[in-house]
Amino acid sequence: MKAFIYERYGPPETLRMAEVDTPAPAADEVLVKVLAASVNAADWHVLRGKPLFSRATLGLLRPRHQILGVDIAGQVEAVGSDVTQFTDGDEVYANLLDHGYGGFAEQVAVPVDVASLKPASLSFEEAAAVPMSATTALQGLGHHGALQPGQRVLINGATGGVGSFAVQLAKAAGAEVTAVTSTPNLELVRSLGADHVLDYTTTDALGGGRRYDRVLDTVGNRSVAELKGALAEGGKAAVTGFTSVRRLLGVSLRGGKDVAQVQAHVTAKDLELLSELIEAGDVRPQIDRRYRFAELPAAVAYVEQGHARAKVVVAIPD
Ligand SMILES: NC(=O)c1ccc[n+]([C@@H]2O[C@H](COP(=O)([O-])OP(=O)(O)OC[C@H]3O[C@@H](n4cnc5c(N)ncnc54)[C@H](OP(=O)(O)O)[C@@H]3O)[C@@H](O)[C@H]2O)c1
Repeated sequence: MKAFIYERYGPPETLRMAEVDTPAPAADEVLVKVLAASVNAADWHVLRGKPLFSRATLGLLRPRHQILGVDIAGQVEAVGSDVTQFTDGDEVYANLLDHGYGGFAEQVAVPVDVASLKPASLSFEEAAAVPMSATTALQGLGHHGALQPGQRVLINGATGGVGSFAVQLAKAAGAEVTAVTSTPNLELVRSLGADHVLDYTTTDALGGGRRYDRVLDTVGNRSVAELKGALAEGGKAAVTGFTSVRRLLGVSLRGGKDVAQVQAHVTAKDLELLSELIEAGDVRPQIDRRYRFAELPAAVAYVEQGHARAKVVVAIPD
């Protein structure tokens, strides 16, 4: 099969198309013919091998796994011996972050506990846009307990991959949503349902005396003191984004019980919940750009710039 591989850490040009062996599904896996993948920040972080401490798990000198890609949608081609919930031909979507990546390929073996039937109303490209970002939004918003109707929620980075889902999920829960984005994206975030919009290029989103019951920081560019300063009495903040090791350590060491760093782990259960919300019309992936498989390095480079308007997807094969 064809796959994009990388044999050393580096920029998106390091990725090259190669002919590799088709994986064989283990007992608890399905072999999926990949029809679409989405690009996530995790892909360029891991491609670069940054932050450097991550190489302890990724591979010290060179990458241990050569195929990136965490989010995929496609069709089941074969099932492992223990698999009962899927059969050949099923249309599925899945996330491979906790399972060695491998989605930027024509086929991939996927553990069934990170896969679900694809929402029927979505194309494969739209479905591939969902797992990583929407699950992170779901788990970030829910980290301190389920959102309650009427709660005031601030979402920093509201038009990125995670933020575009977070706005819709918070609205679906009945929250009053304030979305932080930049000037070109104000209309987009309103169209996602935000009640209030703050332009971070002209306003200090965490200043001005505004207070929130929940803050979801999908960017990770604010200090613990700034986040706490925006919380109403009893308020809680969750940080899913990452901009520097200093910020990451700050939240992890000084966040206390009110400000938490959240690492998302996709589960089949959360994918099934997202499918329900999608089929109910509460959530819809927003696609910024579509790329052909051969253009994958350009897609990764675009996401690495950090200003994608929601999701970037790749059609496989072209
Ligand atoms: N913890 C986890 O499990 C997890 C899961 C997924 C992602 N992440 C991390 O979360 C981060 C965001 O992921 P993503 O997929 O949403 O990224 P993305 O699609 O690249 O979006 C980044 C967003 O950040 C916004 N932004 C940039 N500078 C900003 C600023 N100064 N203030 C407010 N917003 C700003 C951008 O908006 P403009 O275009 O308007 O500037 C853009 O919408 C990445 O660091 C990623 O590694 C973590």
